[in-house]
Amino acid sequence: MNNNGNIIEIHGLKKSYDKGKTKALDGVNLEIQEGEFVSIMGPSGSGKSTLLNMIGAFDTADEGSISVAGIDLMKTKNLDQFRSEKIGFVFQLHNLIPNLSVLENVEIPMLRKKISTKDMESRAMELLELMNFSDLSEKVKQKPTKLSGGERQRVAIARALVNHPTIILADEPTGALDSRTTQMILDLLKDIHQKENVTLVMVTHEQDVGEQADRIVTVLDGKIKEGKA
Ligand SMILES: Nc1ncnc2c1ncn2[C@@H]1O[C@H](COP(=O)(O)OP(=O)(O)OP(=O)(O)O)[C@@H](O)[C@H]1O
Ligand SMILES: [Mg+2]
Repeated sequence: MNNNGNIIEIHGLKKSYDKGKTKALDGVNLEIQEGEFVSIMGPSGSGKSTLLNMIGAFDTADEGSISVAGIDLMKTKNLDQFRSEKIGFVFQLHNLIPNLSVLENVEIPMLRKKISTKDMESRAMELLELMNFSDLSEKVKQKPTKLSGGERQRVAIARALVNHPTIILADEPTGALDSRTTQMILDLLKDIHQKENVTLVMVTHEQDVGEQADRIVTVLDGKIKEGKA
């Protein structure tokens, strides 16, 4: 974080694909305060996922500057370390590993740390308990394929949180869910955002979901427009 309270600072960020033919980001300027909950909205193909991937250092930009949690992502060599220490990522289709149990899936981000099996298990259980499961003790042993979509997404949120991230990035976390389950997932995210003061950046195409954030930013043709489209 820098001295003006921005945990994310992006200036003139550009990213193109296909040897420059597709301009996914075309000069993005965006500042997000520490502890803010921001929704990113905009039409399909406008660059929302590309932007989120840049913030989480899953991909690198071509031009411009991007600083996240005090790290200059255009310069740092330790992108893996940055990602595992600072970022929790929730995907639209949860990306759980089908042949591992629920508990093992939540433990994955801790594997590269020097934590005992017992401590990993208790941290994973601590988060799963926050996720309002019924029959949790049974569910943790099951494979994610046995769970409903909303339950899988709650496992994915628990997994995103185990390493105490500074920032949660969520790309359409409720995109595959019905409206009741959507609200439950949102309430969980909002709860964590408030209790742990994590910064939450969420991509969504649903207006009523986006409006639950402190602020909506819209991406249009690879550029930011504050407020609704
Ligand atoms: N890996 C890639 N290779 C080539 N082109 C890509 C790649 N990723 C994204 N693009 C292109 O960049 C543009 C922005 O894509 P992006 O996935 O960021 O859009 P989006 O706003 O997330 O859309 P959606 O709402 O459909 O998820 C699109 O034209 C897309 O086709
Ligand atoms: Mg997308």
